[in-house]
This record gives sequence, structure tokens and C-alpha cells, in this order.
Amino acid sequence: MSSIGFGIDVGGSGVKGARVDLESGEFASERIKILTPRPATPEAVAAVVAQIVEQAGWEGPVGVTVPGVVRNHVVESAANIDASWVGTDARALFSSHLGGREVTVLNDADAAGLAEVTYGIPEASRGPVIFLTLGTGIGSALLIDGRLYPNSELGHLEVGGKEAERRASSAVKERKELSYKQWAKRVDKVLHAYEELFSPELFIVGGGISRKSDKWVPLLTCRTRVLPARLLNTAGIVGAAMAARRGSTR
Ligand code: BGC
Repeated sequence: MSSIGFGIDVGGSGVKGARVDLESGEFASERIKILTPRPATPEAVAAVVAQIVEQAGWEGPVGVTVPGVVRNHVVESAANIDASWVGTDARALFSSHLGGREVTVLNDADAAGLAEVTYGIPEASRGPVIFLTLGTGIGSALLIDGRLYPNSELGHLEVGGKEAERRASSAVKERKELSYKQWAKRVDKVLHAYEELFSPELFIVGGGISRKSDKWVPLLTCRTRVLPARLLNTAGIVGAAMAARRGSTR
């Protein structure tokens, strides 16, 4: 069996896909990125997904992430995507745009967390770990010894009367033009809340902003260790390709 898979990450600003070498977790082709259509309705996004697969000349199974709860292939929440996704059978939708081929759909942060477990820092697969992606929203993957409890949605936990992701996503940092110091205070408050509820052994922080982790991770005061993810912007695509290989049905 070839060790190459194909993953697509549907995000708020771009839909991105690439071939992934499932032995190394590296991209095996250029990443193709198409701007997320506006409005990002299921049909419009599925057309873009099909365009990426066609442009890549990929014929095998495809894994796709979406930024929402995905249970039994059905999208059940849509905080950062068009509301019309709720109730959509995403697997059936994508598959119908891809000539009926096999498609696996999962939450974007769950995909990124699984990719980190397999190809990222070794600590990701030991004990209770909370993996977070800080981007447009805050995505979470609850991991225990590398196994996933899916759809945890910790970005929507209310912290100090405000949803965590409205307080501390990296989009909030940008929008409010916060310094790293100001933003780290917000992240810290969120991590303290998670720590109180879950007592993880480790937080892993992913998303593009973790490239600059030296500017904010040292400012955090929670007791739990915080480490930056190794896979940053590639994690969603890699996790999607892994899921497609596994043919996960959840
Ligand atoms: C969504 C999550 C998603 C996260 C990151 C949140 O608003 O509810 O499902 O994982 O954003 O994209």
C-alpha cells in the first residue's frame, strides 16, 4: 500500500490540501490553497474541495477537516463557518462532489491533535494531554496516551463570563492589536480554567502563532507545562490524511 495520503483542511480564510507522506508526516506535494468562498456554504466549500483534489490529480480517498463538531459524519456546530453546515452530512456531500469516492470528515483540532501524536513531540502521546490550536477560534483535542476523545470544543467554555475563544484566540490578538504580553494574560486565564477542570499533565499549543511561542509561552503562569506543537500549519492537513487512511467512521 502506498504511504501517500491526501488531506484537506477547511479553515475560515482558506481551504488547503496536499499529499501527505504518512511515514514521515511531511507534505509530499505543494500545498494547494484556495480562499474560502463567501458565504462558506456546504455546497460552495465542497466545490472548492473538489477543485483542490482535481488540481492535485489525486484519485484516492480523501480526509477533510471542518471547524465544527462532526458526529457520524454530520456537522453539528458552526461557530466559525456558515450556519447552514449544521445538520449537513459532510461525508455524503464531499463524496458526491468527488465522484463517490471514500471521504472521511473530522474536526480540525482533533485532526491536528492526532497528527501531533504521531509525528510531533513525543510528550503528545503520554498521559492526559490537552492539545489546543489557536487561530480564528480555539480548537481542542483531548488526548490520553495518544488516544482521542473527539469533539471536545474547549474553545467554547466560558471563562470569566466570556467564551474562551472570544477572549484568547489569535484572531482576537490581531483584531484588538494586543501585544504578546497582553494576549498571553488572556491565554493564561483560559489555561488556568482548563487546568482546574481537567488537570492535564501537559498543554500543547498549536496554530501559526506557536511559531512565535518564545514570545508568549514563557509568560504563562499555569502549573501545567505548556509546550509548542511541532506541527503548526500543516497539522490539519496531515491529520486529515491520516484519518482518511484509517477510514475513521466517526
Ligand atoms: C469550533 C471548533 C474548531 C475551532 C478551531 C471553534 O470555533 O467550534 O470546532 O475546532 O473553532 O477551528
